[in-house]
Amino acid sequence: MSIIIAPSLLAADINHLGDQVKQAVEAGADWIHVDVMDGRFVPNISFGPLVVKAVREVTSLTIDVHLMIVEPEKHLRAFANAGTNHLTVHYETCPHIHRTLQNIREMGMSPGIVINPGTPVDMLSELTHDFDSVLIMTVNPGFGGQDFIETMVDKIRRTKALLDRTGSQASIQVDGGISSETIKACYEAGATNFIAGSSIFRHEDGIAAGIKALRDAIHS
Ligand code: DX5
Ligand code: ZN
Repeated sequence: MSIIIAPSLLAADINHLGDQVKQAVEAGADWIHVDVMDGRFVPNISFGPLVVKAVREVTSLTIDVHLMIVEPEKHLRAFANAGTNHLTVHYETCPHIHRTLQNIREMGMSPGIVINPGTPVDMLSELTHDFDSVLIMTVNPGFGGQDFIETMVDKIRRTKALLDRTGSQASIQVDGGISSETIKACYEAGATNFIAGSSIFRHEDGIAAGIKALRDAIHS
């Protein structure tokens, strides 16, 4: 499975969002990650469909939207219309997760599921053919710049084993505290899709250096 680096706009300079996206694209980003927070499921409030639409206007890359909101099913159409390609919903927010994943696909988007650090991998076992990716949160969602939770490496390994055992082709994403120090352990455990905010947009030598450092660390 090919490696995907997805810069998270939460750490970008919002005064120059379009330019930041263009720089990330030119630096070889594979996807652009947009965090949507509602101040209810998570304590913070961030972006919505308007921002996705603005990103769509400056790039044709895959836009990966991470919904950290209650009742996400009410907003799927708005994110589809805004230009989302890959839409991820939290297991914890969806009592009818099977239907929600199907609806995402019916709307022409690729469905992803995400679980919090405290949610067991086993919760995914009935669904492994209904999503294209599973996102293992490596921090508690809500804020950028948090420390990577080391125990999630074994969770990634167990997720990989579950996908293999059930014959699922889904990829494994990780999000939170992904840096040149943490990325390799995630890769070796089975993750191929890496979301990173601070280590890309706050890299002291710039966005391109941030992306390169992550790629180099995977193969170090
Ligand atoms: C956290 C978000 C992340 C966040 C990661 O809830 O889902 O996408 O931007 O930020 P870093 O890479 O700084 O931990
Ligand atoms: Zn995210």
